[in-house]
Amino acid sequence: MDWGMRNRIARFIKPETGRTVMLAVDHGYFLGPTSGLENARETIAPLLPYTDSLMCTRGVLRTSVDPKTPTPVVLRVSGGPSVLKELSNEEITTSMEDALRLNVCGVGMSIFVGAEFEKQTLTNLGKLVSEGEKIGMPVLAITAVGKEMGRDLRFLGLACRIAAEYGAHCVKTYYCEGFDQLVASCPVPVVIAGGKKTPEKEALELAANAVNEGAAGVDMGRNIWQSEWPVAMIQAIRAVVHEKKSVKEAWDLFESLRKATKGKKVKGVAATPDF
Ligand code: 5RP
Repeated sequence: MDWGMRNRIARFIKPETGRTVMLAVDHGYFLGPTSGLENARETIAPLLPYTDSLMCTRGVLRTSVDPKTPTPVVLRVSGGPSVLKELSNEEITTSMEDALRLNVCGVGMSIFVGAEFEKQTLTNLGKLVSEGEKIGMPVLAITAVGKEMGRDLRFLGLACRIAAEYGAHCVKTYYCEGFDQLVASCPVPVVIAGGKKTPEKEALELAANAVNEGAAGVDMGRNIWQSEWPVAMIQAIRAVVHEKKSVKEAWDLFESLRKATKGKKVKGVAATPDF
């Protein structure tokens, strides 16, 4: 692996801990104005100081993120269908030239193993990795799940291993029972998505279970910015991921930060389908 590739990976997986707290705000690329992300700039700005890397589309990056930020970015480069259509029918929608111009530290795309357009998304991944290798740009493969698809070890383990075989440098998936086996059979770092919003303590437990079973961290969205106290929540997640704090310690931190800050008004005008 060349220096540029290794340097970019080190910008989002912190070498001090070997872990990462990525903030996922890419939901709008197929969901539109998701609850909590209606005004992306307002949601993102207070969270950036606590974020190891921001995961977003180029549209949100250009319109809603201050270019003076030191926080590195992993750019979502796949898309195609909206939530109204067959989700697996994705193509690569943002060029590697644009990724370079935007000075990002990685690109991310979804694969849909087991879905109608499985082959298309896997060949997308292979081609993206080949392009990335030429310029030292790491690729994060996201194991998307359709509404009818399972989130168990058999399915997620299959998808993660396939992503690594195609050359993904990092894989994002969901936590499942037997997660340590998934990590053991995936030769690249694995981060977990948070999934739909749950009570804060449950999200902390999810993050703790994942890192204790070998995850390199989280790429979390809704469980942070759909919280009434997103800034407290991301700091509690950091305590679990980077400082190896227990769920109780992280919960106590969350509670103390929460009490010291005003909650935000959660608008909840836009639908967030279960995915
Ligand atoms: C959408 C994504 C999201 O970034 C991912 O699901 C993470 O967000 P959340 O924690 O809200 O699940 O990749 O395809």
